[in-house]
Amino acid sequence: MLIRFFLIMTLPLVLAACTDAEDASSAGEVVARDGASIYRQYCVVCHSSGAGGAPVVAKENRLHWSHEVEEEGFEAIVREAINGVNAMPPRGGCMDCSDDEIRATVIHMLQLSGAK
Ligand code: HEC
Repeated sequence: MLIRFFLIMTLPLVLAACTDAEDASSAGEVVARDGASIYRQYCVVCHSSGAGGAPVVAKENRLHWSHEVEEEGFEAIVREAINGVNAMPPRGGCMDCSDDEIRATVIHMLQLSGAK
């Protein structure tokens, strides 16, 4: 009976310790997020295959991206990535991405496709 009482009393403590550890590790991920990891996590689904008409991010599609930057301007395509356009969801579905993180991800996409 005494052991049982002991278990019941310590269980919440053990559980609390677990959640603390998880919080710490997910906070670590947020700090580590750069354009490349956001791209791999959120954007690659559409932008590697062209799903839903997404412009493919690859060297073969370099001209498309160069054209976008030239015609619309870098800031304009960053804004579209943030607000969404047609089948492109706002922030590419990364609702907790900051504007700066989206900007870094667009830079990464342009680098991957070799756009100038
Ligand atoms: C559900 C599929 C999907 C996902 C996920 C997605 N995109 Fe897109 N994206 C699209 C489509 C479709 C377009 C083309 C929209 C159009 O112009 O009609 C597009 C276009 C773009 C463009 C070009 C905008 C322009 O000016 O034409 C950029 C930049 C972009 N996406 C960035 C991103 C980033 C950054 C992410 C991840 C954070 C992302 N996308 C995730 C579907 C997606």
